[in-house]
Amino acid sequence: MVRIGIIGAGSWAKKVHAPAFHAAGAKIIGVYSRTPARANALAQAYGARAYSAYEALLEDVDAVTIATPDDTHAPYATQAAARGVHVFVEKPLGRNAAEAQALLEAVRKAGVIGMTALTARGDPAAAHAHALLASGALGTLYYLRGVFHGAYLGDPTTPTPWRAQAQIAGPGGVVGDLGPHLFDLARHLTGLEFREVLARTQVCLERTPPATNPDAAAILARMDGLDALLSLSRVHVGEPQRLELELQGSAGALKLRLGPEGGALWRAERPGTYARLEPPIPPTQGWGRPQFLTLARRFLEGIRQGTPPQPSLEDGLAAQRVVDAVVRSAERHAWRAV
Ligand SMILES: NC(=O)c1ccc[n+]([C@@H]2O[C@H](COP(=O)([O-])OP(=O)(O)OC[C@H]3O[C@@H](n4cnc5c(N)ncnc54)[C@H](OP(=O)(O)O)[C@@H]3O)[C@@H](O)[C@H]2O)c1
Repeated sequence: MVRIGIIGAGSWAKKVHAPAFHAAGAKIIGVYSRTPARANALAQAYGARAYSAYEALLEDVDAVTIATPDDTHAPYATQAAARGVHVFVEKPLGRNAAEAQALLEAVRKAGVIGMTALTARGDPAAAHAHALLASGALGTLYYLRGVFHGAYLGDPTTPTPWRAQAQIAGPGGVVGDLGPHLFDLARHLTGLEFREVLARTQVCLERTPPATNPDAAAILARMDGLDALLSLSRVHVGEPQRLELELQGSAGALKLRLGPEGGALWRAERPGTYARLEPPIPPTQGWGRPQFLTLARRFLEGIRQGTPPQPSLEDGLAAQRVVDAVVRSAERHAWRAV
């Protein structure tokens, strides 16, 4: 049984990481987090121990799952890898691609297993879309449209969270927070790489203290032979959080939607209108725990087999490079290479 440590005791560690790894069959040994009382409460729920020193936890585990703010992902993962501990790391891998690259190199050097927590990859509707695309169901791809909209920072009267602070969450803001899911899914479904981007970003809401990274982004992207138009927002009120990706091709179209209301997939012939598909595996309810159960199983299996699972740290780095290019493009109002 893989012995695992949970790093962070916030909402995602509690709601998703700990229950998913527990259900996947890992033994939760301990929790390390900033506030001891929260680490204690989470540890107790799994009969585990709260550690006051990260190094001490690393001595007792085979793997860690890192669910802390973004500035700490690379340092905690690098430290773990150096101790021979496998790492399951939240997106974004770092505040920028340099941090993500350093993390990846540390993991390669140590020869441990690494994986990026790109939630959408654990969804059966996304897997079904991937299989259809791989079979050539859409013919020649024409273009991709994608949105990832949420309202988790949509209330300006709430305290400015770490996600809105560039020092902690990086200069990308919503681009680093939601972007990796969308960029990775676009790469995964099409098998194509992002080459260049033209982007505008904005801080929409007036907060106290002010946000130092953007709330929303509009992105035009060039993938290999495919144009993509993407929209990201963390202040998008009016409907439940939603990741939606649509691909149009010579033989038809696919539309994938993931979010708290569950995963769904539609297909249209050319010419034709969308009909909902039933994936071979029942659709998920919600965003987080069901997809993470699949990801956690893959990570544990990767450790047992000694083979890197998907989505890999390389996938996390590729997504991070798109984030960086969007930030550079928005700063300069110009196309930037990824
Ligand atoms: N894959 C996904 O779909 C998805 C969805 C949501 C979040 N996430 C990612 O999950 C991560 C955590 O997000 P969250 O929403 O859970 O944030 P959160 O609720 O703020 O929780 C962060 C946790 O990390 C702890 N922490 C802060 N700084 C630390 C440090 N230097 N060392 C150790 N622990 C520290 C916090 O301690 P305190 O208790 O003292 O605050 C808190 O327990 C983020 O990277 C986020 O991007 C991913």
